[in-house]
Amino acid sequence: MERASEHGLVLVIGGTGKTGRHVVTELRRLGADVRVAARSTPARFDWFDESTWEAAVSGARRAYLVDAQNEHAAERMRAFAPFAVERGVERLVLLSARGWASSGDPELLATENALKDSGGAWTILRPTWFMQGFTEDDTLRAPVRSGELRLPSGDGLEPFIDAEDIAAVAAAVLTREGHEGSVYELSGPRALSMGEAVDTIAEATGRAIRYVPVSEEEYVAGLTADGVPPGQARFIAELFGWIRDGEDAHLSDGVQRILGRAPRDFAEFAKRAAAAGAWDD
Ligand SMILES: NC(=O)c1ccc[n+]([C@@H]2O[C@H](COP(=O)([O-])OP(=O)(O)OC[C@H]3O[C@@H](n4cnc5c(N)ncnc54)[C@H](OP(=O)(O)O)[C@@H]3O)[C@@H](O)[C@H]2O)c1
Repeated sequence: MERASEHGLVLVIGGTGKTGRHVVTELRRLGADVRVAARSTPARFDWFDESTWEAAVSGARRAYLVDAQNEHAAERMRAFAPFAVERGVERLVLLSARGWASSGDPELLATENALKDSGGAWTILRPTWFMQGFTEDDTLRAPVRSGELRLPSGDGLEPFIDAEDIAAVAAAVLTREGHEGSVYELSGPRALSMGEAVDTIAEATGRAIRYVPVSEEEYVAGLTADGVPPGQARFIAELFGWIRDGEDAHLSDGVQRILGRAPRDFAEFAKRAAAAGAWDD
């Protein structure tokens, strides 16, 4: 296997987040030199403050990219990716989402397309919903802790993926040859309904938690009452609607193909998260 440090400095944008911080750990384990970049890190990087870009990319040869996560993400990528390539970043790996491709909405692929047009060697990762949504996103974690999760996802199935598996794939494609120009779809090993996911967490924690399917209208009304802007609330509800309608239930083999092993199961994730106190008060 090639030595990771031979590939030069790797910039990890979003390096404090759900996947990024595990990408950092995995790259360091492989012997790579890593620069962690986000708004809160010593090497500060902000998608919306271009004065932070030069220092962030300086000396970097490869980059893991977690995008700006709002309606400006594609436009920001279209500005940043060529900027990085011109300064010597040869390979860029983007965290996208499997649902964007299957939605049929070309707007949702605009960030991927901006990366492809950058002139650099690109690889795109399209994962399903992260298991860590249940431990790190308050949309799911807070209701799970309260004992009742109300969502408009019906009995639809989702093959949740462990963010650490995504990170292991990202570190592999950043440090090995042969992944340029490839798109990898990544899922967990099994599709679960929200009810099954909640039951698994209940078993792992010993807490009473139930899942209650609700309509999109009720869900949007609840989010907006909590202060979420209506447009964003409708978009979140739409994402759960894709699960309800069975559009995201199929499995993808990217983890097995890149890492040569199966992805981690939700029951294992729940057990480890419960042991780490993820749902404690
Ligand atoms: N969550 C899921 O289930 C899921 C599923 C499929 C795909 N995805 C995709 O994964 C991506 C990441 O989502 P996530 O929920 O996992 O988020 P996350 O990576 O846990 O958190 C966002 C990261 O980006 C940084 N960040 C936020 N705003 C920034 C800005 N303006 N400039 C620079 N860095 C910024 C944050 O650090 P600072 O706050 O310190 O800046 C943090 O490191 C999204 O594009 C999403 O579409 C998510």
